[in-house]
Order: sequence, then structure tokens, then C-alpha cells
Amino acid sequence: MFTVNANYQKLPGSYLFSTVAKKVAAYQKENPDADIIRLGIGDVTQPIAPAIISALHKAVDEMGNAETFHGYAPDLGYEFLREAIRKNDYEARGCDIAADEIFISDGAKSDSGNIQELFSEDNIVAVTDPVYPVYVDSNVMGGRLGTFDPKSEKWSELIYMPSVAENNFVPDFPEKTPDIIYLCIPNNPTGTSMTKDEVQGWVDYANRNGCVIIYDAAYEAYITEDNVPHSIYECDGARECAIEIRSFSKKAGFTGLRLGFTVVPKDLKQGGVSLRDMWARRHGTKFNGAPYIVQRAGEAVYSPEGSAQVSAQVASYMKNAHAIKDGLSDLGYNAYGGVNSPYIWLKTPNGMSSWDFFDFLLEKANIVGTPGSGFGPSGEGYFRLTAFGTYENSIRALERIKNL
Ligand code: MLT
Repeated sequence: MFTVNANYQKLPGSYLFSTVAKKVAAYQKENPDADIIRLGIGDVTQPIAPAIISALHKAVDEMGNAETFHGYAPDLGYEFLREAIRKNDYEARGCDIAADEIFISDGAKSDSGNIQELFSEDNIVAVTDPVYPVYVDSNVMGGRLGTFDPKSEKWSELIYMPSVAENNFVPDFPEKTPDIIYLCIPNNPTGTSMTKDEVQGWVDYANRNGCVIIYDAAYEAYITEDNVPHSIYECDGARECAIEIRSFSKKAGFTGLRLGFTVVPKDLKQGGVSLRDMWARRHGTKFNGAPYIVQRAGEAVYSPEGSAQVSAQVASYMKNAHAIKDGLSDLGYNAYGGVNSPYIWLKTPNGMSSWDFFDFLLEKANIVGTPGSGFGPSGEGYFRLTAFGTYENSIRALERIKNL
């Protein structure tokens, strides 16, 4: 008789964004004429940039020709893409990362969910709270987080590092020393970030205490302030303690194309075992690569035209972010983020719970956002809006909130 992975039975409810989508679908069914503005899941809305589309077309044509056809991709990803990443994302920022430390994947969500496989079940995990739910749920699946207490909405073995307005969204080092630390900078969901000195503090902490940092930099393209690092490898000693995960989704609108990568430096070792070699082994066994055409599209993101076009897209989302954040502040809301990130994190009015505010906004203004409590207990009383809509919808949403 087979038995199931009992850890899955511990997961409460459904994945946050599935719950939100179900609620919105039910509302839309009841109210078919409602003109809903969707500022919930952080999904891009602008089409893929022209230089990237040209590269895709060219690659598609190559696939139809025996001389230029491509079958299985190399385990780590195509050299042309890994080299473009090494040069543009790392060398250009003074980071010492080699092309064979870069692993191409189908996105940051998969990598951030899969990376926990490299660590034994008894590792203690720490997350900032609120947090991108994938880090928590995937560690539940890996059997690391103990049991869930529905009252406190906490996992018994997980270290929560509150990241709230009171500490300026920069968590303190935890009282109990963890083994694995997840950091997402700029942060999803709070939209806030850390300075290079603050990230350096975490790198030093990790090296002092034998921790590994899983550094999610999916939103680095949105950084506008000089003192926020684009990569953890800008910090001294990060090659010995950090894994970095990146995405083309938010940088270049690839949420539907799927492309990302993870960097595992060769200096990251435990007991003489190289995590880079472990990840290479995993890739070789479980993954057959992002499609050739998508990797060519990724390469085009770094071309002069592609780079200018995706920067313009990011700038236009940031225009929305500024409009939403400033507009909310003018209306008297406490709003955070939106400076180095496409997310605006606001305090719900009149002490409303996050889910009550979700229902209120959906019913009274036909606006969808994401309840802060869905990202962790310290997210209660907060709410997330994304700047990934159109400018017009961002302004319309503000008008509706003003008229509430
Ligand atoms: C979000 O809305 O937090 C993200 O879009 C989800 C994701 O990137 O998987």
C-alpha cells in the first residue's frame, strides 16, 4: 500500500493567490457587470518588448530547420545566456560570478520552491514576516516546519522575523540561530528594501553562524536608489554563504514565457560538500532546461534595444507605483514600498483586518488587492496593491478609493 507525503496534509487551505482568484471569480459570477480592477497578483500586463519578440521569431524559425534545430538544452542552460547574465548582471556590478555558477531555469518560483531539497530535514528555517508564501509552503512539504497553529497562524518550527512599519521593515537578527535564512530584496510583499550595509550585516551574520541565505532578487530591476544592492554578491563574503535567485518575469514581462536563474557559487560548501555541485546534480536529474526559444528571448533582454525597451516598461510600472503610493498617502493612508519595487503595502484603515479590507475593496470599489495576512501573521492589518496594471487603471483605482 502506498503512503502519501504527510507533510502536504499539514498545508492549510490553498495557495494564497489561488484563494484570491477563487474569491474574485465567485464575485464576478455574482456580479457579471462589475468592472473589476485587478491589482492583486503581481502579474505583468505589458506585451513582450519588440526586440525580444524578434529574437523569439528568429529562434522559432531556427527550430524549423534541420541545420539550426535544437533538442535538449545543456543542463545548466545555454552558454550564450549564462554568459550574458554573468557579464551584465554580475561583472558590470563588480560581482565575481562565473558562468558555470549560473543555472538557467523556468523561473524564480520553481527555484525558490525547489532549493530546499538541498538541505536536510532538521535545518531550522527563518523567514521575514510577512513573506512570499512559496518559501514557507515548500519547506512544509520538505517536513521542516513542524505543525501549524491556526490560532497564531504560525508554524511551530519556523523562525518568524517581523518586518513591519515599527522596524522600518528591516528585521532584527533572530534570537534563535537559524540554518537557512530567506531574504527577498526588494521585498515581496512589503515593497520595501534594505541598503547594501544592511544586507552586508546579514551576510556577516550568516558567515558568523554557519547559515545559508537564500536571496530572492526577483525585483532587482525595480531598484531606483543607489544604496540598495542589485545582487547579494555585491557584499563581501556572500560567495561563501548565499544562493541568489533571479527572474525574467518582472524584469522583462516573462510571467507567461517562463525564465529565471539561480546562482550557486563554488565557495558555498558545508562539510566539504559543494552546494553548487548538488544543484548541478539536481538540475541534471530533474530538469531538461528552459526552451531554446525562451533562452534566446532571455539573451535579447540584454541586447542594447532589448535592454532599453524593458527599462522603459519597468519605468512605466514605477510611474504607476509612485501614483498609487502618493495618491494613497494624500488620502491619509500609511503606504510603504513603491520606490524600489512595484508593490505598495498599506495599513488597512480603521484597524480593519486584511481580509475584511479585501472584501470591502472588492465589493465597494471593485478593486482586487492581496490581503497582507495571507503573507504571514505580521502581515495582518496590511494590504498589498501592485503597480503592474495600466496607468489608467491605477488612477481609476485611486479615484474609487477616494470615493469610498
Ligand atoms: C506575487 O504576486 O507575489 C507574485 O506575482 C507571485 C509570483 O511571482 O509567483
